[in-house]
Amino acid sequence: MNQNHHSRKHLPVRLALLLALAGTGAAPAPAQTTNPIPTLQIKAGQVTAKVSPMLYGLMTEEINYSYEGGLYGELIRNRTFKANPTNAMFWSAVGNAVISLDTNAPLNAALNVSLKLDATPAAKNAPAGIANGGYWGIPVKPKAAYHASFYARAADGFTGPLTVSLQSSDGKTVFAGAAIPALTGDWKKYEITLTTKKVKPSKNNRLVITTPAPGTIWFSQVSLFPPTFANRANGNRPDLMQLLADMNPKFLRFPGGNYLEGNTIETRFNWKKTVGDVSQRPGHLDDGWGYWSTDGLGLLEFLEWCEDLHIQPLLAVYAGYSMHQQHVTPGPDLAPYVQDALDEIEYVTGDTNTTWGAQRAKDGHPAPFPLEYVEVGNEDQFDRSGSYDGRFTQFFDAIKAKYPQLEVIATTRVTSRVPDLIDEHYYRSQEEMEAHALDYDRRSRTNQTKVFVGEWATRIGSPMPNMAGALGDAAWMTGMERNSDLVLMSCYAPLFVNVSDLGKNGSMQWKTDLIGYDALTSYGSPAYHAQKIFSTHHGDVVLATGSQDIPEQTWQPPARRRNGVEQPRPPAQPIKKLFFDATRDSQSGTIYLKVVNSLGTPQPVKIEISGSSIESKGTAVVLKADRPDDTNSIQAPAKIVPVTEKVKGLGTSFTRTFPPYSITILELKAK
Ligand code: AHR
Repeated sequence: MNQNHHSRKHLPVRLALLLALAGTGAAPAPAQTTNPIPTLQIKAGQVTAKVSPMLYGLMTEEINYSYEGGLYGELIRNRTFKANPTNAMFWSAVGNAVISLDTNAPLNAALNVSLKLDATPAAKNAPAGIANGGYWGIPVKPKAAYHASFYARAADGFTGPLTVSLQSSDGKTVFAGAAIPALTGDWKKYEITLTTKKVKPSKNNRLVITTPAPGTIWFSQVSLFPPTFANRANGNRPDLMQLLADMNPKFLRFPGGNYLEGNTIETRFNWKKTVGDVSQRPGHLDDGWGYWSTDGLGLLEFLEWCEDLHIQPLLAVYAGYSMHQQHVTPGPDLAPYVQDALDEIEYVTGDTNTTWGAQRAKDGHPAPFPLEYVEVGNEDQFDRSGSYDGRFTQFFDAIKAKYPQLEVIATTRVTSRVPDLIDEHYYRSQEEMEAHALDYDRRSRTNQTKVFVGEWATRIGSPMPNMAGALGDAAWMTGMERNSDLVLMSCYAPLFVNVSDLGKNGSMQWKTDLIGYDALTSYGSPAYHAQKIFSTHHGDVVLATGSQDIPEQTWQPPARRRNGVEQPRPPAQPIKKLFFDATRDSQSGTIYLKVVNSLGTPQPVKIEISGSSIESKGTAVVLKADRPDDTNSIQAPAKIVPVTEKVKGLGTSFTRTFPPYSITILELKAK
């Protein structure tokens, strides 16, 4: 599997010139490099591994307003009034109304607080009511049907009407409106459709509910949904789903990393509280990332998300550890959590004769979902009690006993059982990614446990990775792909960020995220495009490769801190700046050669292919930038995107110059 790299030290040409000229006073000679041209060999007759069909997937969790204010279609922020127990956050009074939270006579035990609207001063010419500006705006698009709904009850003497409208934040433009003629004294659900005309897309808008009649009204779960992907009720935002579909992923790891665990056992992702009618879901504080989740996107919605993308769920079950060092002792104390996981698997896969399969059918999805992979916990190496081995064993044994066909994933090393896969996480700088890009070539193949790289990213750039990030990622991906007999699955993290408010306590909790958006538009980072082209351009077998004269640079790894104390700086080391791998599609014979040039100079590379004849015409997909810190943004979402071009002059031996800061996938056709 070894990539067989022979390297040369590479000084950037400019720097080499400056050094040569220092102290001489001589005029600069024309830039020239004497470095030998790197050579790559592809041995098409030698297959080293199968490319795992599950290699490229998605990892998701509620972070950076990924679901609430992101993928989940809901447009109303704090729709259940539970985000803050002391005030009706993100809601405002309209006219001379007074609004407050009220815990008396709520809708139900789950939604145990309502919004009280005191509209005593309301009049025909001065309506009073409530307004919500969404997650940094409410998108209004032309000719779109918005589904508004809410529960309400009125105090004695108030019968209505109410007007529901979608309007600009200053109230000057009303895009759509509808009336609810009457209310009663009992909780009742009201639903209307607000359809916009041919308006300009905008996001500086709000939902307003007013009355011209004096009185008091209570509201619960006020909701507004735009059209959703595949028209699912309670579904997802179409543009974000499309960005995901375009990545051609094979699985979705959910419900998250820290989001699964919670800071405390109480605030874990408790799946049983996330299913059923949305008005019966209490929601919970996502305390790892610091905001309220309505759990409107709950277990069933995760599964339907997979179904809509035609991908597999990779279900992470809560394993009795939460991040504030709370753990459940293996043995009888852990048994209810193990049972919860078994119930969860039954909810996903059970037929309608099972308890939880029947519950899923009742929730609207009679057909079971496919499931092959279950992960036990998340990053359990941080559990300082050392209880994971015991906890994993208890989960593993119970899952395997009832579902022997499932592949069970451990989140850190265990000794008592042999997990099917181990989940490894890597958040690194570009240089670290490059320094580790060949790690899996060297990894022993004797261990039965395969690798799932369940979180990884080159963390350069904010909010999104820039081209340097994409280059680090691509270097790392060549290593995973070349070794995908061992690395069966991988997924970048985090997937999403709402870029509306990048200040403190704003819309981003973790920088360097794959896909960005505001209320209205969305875009992929350079790293998104790197992943997309990797995932959509590969064969099913890995070909043996070799190389000579791969350029290198010297890298000084930063000093690390351990227990607050700075450690001695590790020695400087050479790192490669050119990465590659080759795969072939067994059916068509097409060879996919991926070449990553991390240098800021054009890099000629000699390519030699043995064991196959190659047509002179082929295709190149190229992602490149002028500078490593170039990136995409909400203002310039397509600054760095892949370009597909036809290429000539290919064959079993040819030289191609790869642009500075570039990722290229050459599609070579066998004759
Ligand atoms: O991806 C962000 C966080 O990084 C995940 O929640 C956690 O698993 C990891 O530490």
